[in-house]
Order: sequence, then structure tokens, then C-alpha cells
Amino acid sequence: MKIGIDKIGFYTPHLYVDMKKLAVAREIEPEKFTIGIGQEKMALAPLTQDAVTLAANAALNILDEKDKEKIDLVIFGTESGIDHSKAAAIYVHHLLGLRSEARAFEIKQACYGATAGIQMAKGHIALNPESKVLVLGSDISRYGLNTSGEATQGAGAVALVISAEPSILAFEEQSAYVTADIMDFWRPIYSEAAFVDGKFSNEQYIQFFATAWAQYKAKTNLALKDFEAICFHLPYTKMGLKALKPVLLEEGSAADQERLLANYQVSTGYNRVVGNIYTGSLYLSLLSLLEQQEDLADGERIGLFSYGSGAVGEFFTGILQPGFRSHLNVVQHMDLLSSRAEVSVAEYEAIFQQTLPIDGTTVELDNTNDPAEIYLAGMTNNMRQYINKQTEDSIYS
Ligand code: COA
Repeated sequence: MKIGIDKIGFYTPHLYVDMKKLAVAREIEPEKFTIGIGQEKMALAPLTQDAVTLAANAALNILDEKDKEKIDLVIFGTESGIDHSKAAAIYVHHLLGLRSEARAFEIKQACYGATAGIQMAKGHIALNPESKVLVLGSDISRYGLNTSGEATQGAGAVALVISAEPSILAFEEQSAYVTADIMDFWRPIYSEAAFVDGKFSNEQYIQFFATAWAQYKAKTNLALKDFEAICFHLPYTKMGLKALKPVLLEEGSAADQERLLANYQVSTGYNRVVGNIYTGSLYLSLLSLLEQQEDLADGERIGLFSYGSGAVGEFFTGILQPGFRSHLNVVQHMDLLSSRAEVSVAEYEAIFQQTLPIDGTTVELDNTNDPAEIYLAGMTNNMRQYINKQTEDSIYS
């Protein structure tokens, strides 16, 4: 039985910061951000968007009534959770009107969370071939103003429907994975922003890819020539290239190098104008490749490298399914990206510092400028009030 990605949705907030202008404001050469790091725009979440609404909006765009009848498992990967106890998956389950006979929970392992969800979904579908699983990767990446990680922030979510006989990408059985206890990036529960040892994190990412790739080759006897493209977790678009290049130089023919480097560039397209979305970043890269590389053909193999600091790395693969292109939402995603509004650096700094009350007071948020169908309307009694404009359903008031 084939198991894989049947549908893929994406959402990012309607605001962004121009990286060249951010560089100027920080007295940094713009080319450091646009070339050295590889980012042009950075998505910014207004207070009316959080990890829950981003994920719900990403899923809203792809689910039909048939999916809603079949989804019996919702797995929410995030490191921007809104509650230490209650899972973000339950809010999304409610906002999308999914059936009550379902499991819903949140999982965490830095940027690896959605991949962990996919691997669990594979097992669930293998046991329940009629089921569909909704896997969400949703995050708001925050390092803080004037920090070295500031240029690698962003906001967005990817929603994946995993099923048997998938329309887009069928996962292959073999996978290679690595865990090691390291402190390259972490966010203690008292901190709004992440801590990162940037150089160490880069080194470890590269090392984890090399280890997972070596393990994968030993398990499968496959080589670079067997891959049309390899997509990477992209905290910034230069990162995957740093891991791919040494392997390409050592093992790749001229044709492998040309093909994999060209496809790598295409696979960074959306990430370059969205920024870091942590758990969703690898799948945003896959989406860039699927939607923007017109030469991809049915039956071709795509490699996927997932990395979550702390750290877990996994390399796994999928085969493009016949007619996969007709199951993508290219126009919708291009519109989403091109209809965003730019904010100045001063406006970004002001929005970045806005916070919700933490003392139980009631606040109503103004969503006049937020075009999202699902948004955070405010807080009452320490409860977030969400609204789905399409159903006029609101939680909880
Ligand atoms: N023109 C072109 N490139 C330039 C440049 C210029 N004017 N100025 C600098 N650069 C290049 C540097 O050479 C470097 O390239 P390299 O990495 O290929 O060597 C790159 O820009 C970054 O410069 P660097 O001095 O290393 O930047 P930094 O100390 O500000 O740190 C990060 C950059 C990415 C490490 C930092 O933003 C960070 O920690 N981000 C978070 C990383 C992360 O998300 N890790 C967790 C999960 S993987």
C-alpha cells in the first residue's frame, strides 16, 4: 500500500519586512542578508495570528467534506505552542469542524515536529488504510530585535493530508534518523525568544545530514543519481546548501551537481520570501519545488532532510505520483505571497513587541486589516477567542 502526501496547504500572514531595509536599519550590508543568508522578505505575524490560526488557515485551504469525514487523527507539530497543557491541535480541530471521533495532539522536537507527525501518520494509515491524517507544522520564529538570529525569523504554517494512495508524493519505506543531545538552539519555557549558538547549530545541521545520508545509503544502496531533488529544512535558504555541497562535491557526477543544485535553488523560492517557519520549513521548501519546478515528472524521487535542533535529523524520500501537479494550489499560493503588505522596520518593531494580556483581562483585537479567514479575536479569562469568518463559529464566547 502506498502512503504519502495527498494534499498540501500553506498559509503565511499578510505582513512582511524587506530584508534590505532591515539590514540598513541594523547597519549591516544588505548583501549579507540577501546573499550571505539568502533571505529577501520576512513574514511578520500580527497579534491576530498565532500558531493555531496559521495552521487552521493553511488547512482550511485544502480540506473538503470527504477529507473531514475521513480525518481521525490531527497531529500538530510546533515550537510556538500557546499552552503548556492543551494541544493546539484541538483548537484547529474545532475551527475546521472536524468529526469528534478523532485523536488530536501536539508534538514537539524543535523544527522536526511535523516530520515526527508524518512518521506517526504513516504507521496510523498502515493500520487504518481508510483513515486520513492531518499533519500541521506551524510556527512564529522569534529570536528578538537586534539579535544575530533576527534575520532568520518568519511566520507560517504548512498543512498536510496524509493518506493511502496519495495524489502527490508516496513515501518510501526506508528512512535514516539520528538523535544526539546538543545545545545548539533552545527556548526555555520562561522565554519568548529562542537562544541559539548559530555557528554550532550550522555545524551540527551539516553533520547530521552527512550522518543520516551515509546511514540512508547503507540501508538502500541508492546514490545521488537516483534523486531528482533533495529538499532541506531551511531556517534560512543558504543552510541546506551548506549541507548539500560537500556531499555533492565528493559523490556527485557533473550531471548530479547541475541537477541537484538547480533544483535546490527552486526549492528555496517560497522560503526566501517567507523566512523561517521552523516545523513547516522543510515542507514549504517541498512546496516551492513542486509548484515552481515545471520539469518535475511522475515517478521521480525527492529526498527530504528534516532537522530539529537539540537535535534530531531524518532523511526520507518520496516518489512523485501520476498527475500530482493537478493537486497543487499554485495560483492560490502565488496570490497569498504577492498580496502581502510591506511594513517599515519601525512598524515591524512595534508589532513584534505587542503582547496579549497575561492577567486574565479582556482584550478585543482589531482584525480590520487582517485578511485571514481564521483569526484571534481577543482574550477573555485567560482564554484565546478564535473566529472562523466562513462559519462564523467562534471559540468560546
Ligand atoms: N555579502 C555577501 N555575504 C556576506 C556579506 C556580504 N556583505 N557579509 C557576510 N556575508 C556572509 C558570510 O560570509 C556568511 O556566509 P557563510 O555562512 O557562507 O560563511 C553569511 O553571510 C552569514 O554571516 P555570519 O557572519 O556567519 O552571520 P552571523 O554571525 O550574523 O550569523 C546565522 C548568521 C545564520 C548563524 C544567525 O543568523 C543565526 O544564528 N541564525 C539562526 C540559525 C538557526 O536557525 N539555527 C537553528 C536551526 S537549524
